[in-house]
Amino acid sequence: MSLVLIVDDIAAMRDQYAYDLKRLGGHLTLEADGGRSALDHLETEDVDCMILDLEMPDLDGFQVLAEMKRRGDRTPVIVYTGTGSYERCVRAVKLGAYAFLAKDEPLERVVQEVDNAIQWARLRDEVKKLRRTAGHDSPLVGESRAMQELRAGIDQLAAIPSAVLVLGDSGTGKELVARQLHDRGTRSRHPFVTVNAAALPESLAESELFGHEKGAFTGADRTRRGAFEAAHRGTLFLDEIGELPLPAQAKLLRVLEAGTITRVGATAEIKVDTRVVAATNRDLDQEVREGRFREDLLYRLNVHVLRVPALSERLSDVPLLASHFLTLVAERFGQRAKSLAPAALERLVTYDWRRNNVRELRNVIERMIIASGGDVIGPDAVPADIGPAAATGTDGWQPGAGPLKDQKAAAERAIVLTALERNGWHVTNTARELGLADHSSLLKIMRRHGLKR
Ligand SMILES: Nc1ncnc2c1ncn2[C@@H]1O[C@H](COP(=O)(O)OP(=O)(O)OP(=O)(O)O)[C@@H](O)[C@H]1O
Ligand SMILES: [Mg+2]
Repeated sequence: MSLVLIVDDIAAMRDQYAYDLKRLGGHLTLEADGGRSALDHLETEDVDCMILDLEMPDLDGFQVLAEMKRRGDRTPVIVYTGTGSYERCVRAVKLGAYAFLAKDEPLERVVQEVDNAIQWARLRDEVKKLRRTAGHDSPLVGESRAMQELRAGIDQLAAIPSAVLVLGDSGTGKELVARQLHDRGTRSRHPFVTVNAAALPESLAESELFGHEKGAFTGADRTRRGAFEAAHRGTLFLDEIGELPLPAQAKLLRVLEAGTITRVGATAEIKVDTRVVAATNRDLDQEVREGRFREDLLYRLNVHVLRVPALSERLSDVPLLASHFLTLVAERFGQRAKSLAPAALERLVTYDWRRNNVRELRNVIERMIIASGGDVIGPDAVPADIGPAAATGTDGWQPGAGPLKDQKAAAERAIVLTALERNGWHVTNTARELGLADHSSLLKIMRRHGLKR
């Protein structure tokens, strides 16, 4: 059952609509006699659709639409006007109204239009939710210095058409970076096409990328466009580029240089305007030394490089990321978002996250949500392998052999570094957390260990 808000200054009009929406559409209704009370209702009630008169004495319909836009209220609105002016209706739709009606429209049509609007809004919200929980619409979360630098780099490169190489350990967010390069640039209205080179059988790599002509090989029963053509005017994301078979690497280099492709089995060249973003977690220099990656292709790709920092280099981002994933996972599970007890967050902020970075954090949060019954996730829900701080300092210190004096110094360095990271390098806060007398005591320790941001 859905709730429809009917807004008109004339009571008889409201009653008529309310009566018919109940009778013909089975809707619940709510009435408002002017713009102001309509806006109040929108704030307090869960309205599924609004029918709005454009002419009213206090706030008129246009002002209501403008205020809704300002508030980011996305309730679908159907407007009508007594003046019969088509031009006014069009203006309302431009302000965000879903549809307009004539005042003398048969009531079956009104009910139908309301049902359409409600269904449209549900689909819109569903798509948005799916895109977000699938990670497609996810923003790059993080305010650490490293993330701010990365964001600045993305904005610089988003504007230019050259190829970009995105480097970083597994799970650091390379795919999100590639999407941002696309979304924030001039190509965002054109396709973003992903090809994962690791998932391509060697025999199909070239045809996937460049397409093929009918009869080019057994099984090629029709002509097919490749990813380069599909991403024309947009972005082609070549994920796991280090895994691309050598023959396809040679062809890719030629395409990057010439700006034209040749489908497998064809002779004609086709001009493409495709921006390439490649990503890998491999050390491409080493791949070159071992003969698995073409040096000339690496030189072509590494003109513009974005390096995505490991999570252990930006532990101060963990709280923001954790709350981002708490919301996201709750949304996917259809639950209310839970929160983390300080002691639980503490464990997350001091962990090393070396294995799978942000992806691992995301998975850990999901496990914690499932493991905890209440609304606040306590430290007991943190998986046992998410270890304590001192054993895994940010610079990888572990208890080992060697003089106690040296080990103590290394441990102290790791503890201080971890605390600094956790506090976003805020010296006074870190000193307080470590129970030091004042910030100059901390500065002294930092100098002794050569710790600088
Ligand atoms: N800064 C971030 N803000 C929000 N979500 C992030 C961030 N970084 C990564 N994620 C999320 O973490 C997960 C892993 O990110 P992504 O798939 O981009 O990693 P990757 O670098 O491509 O890893 P791999 O090398 O294993 O393919 C995704 O769900 C992504 O949405
Ligand atoms: Mg990836």
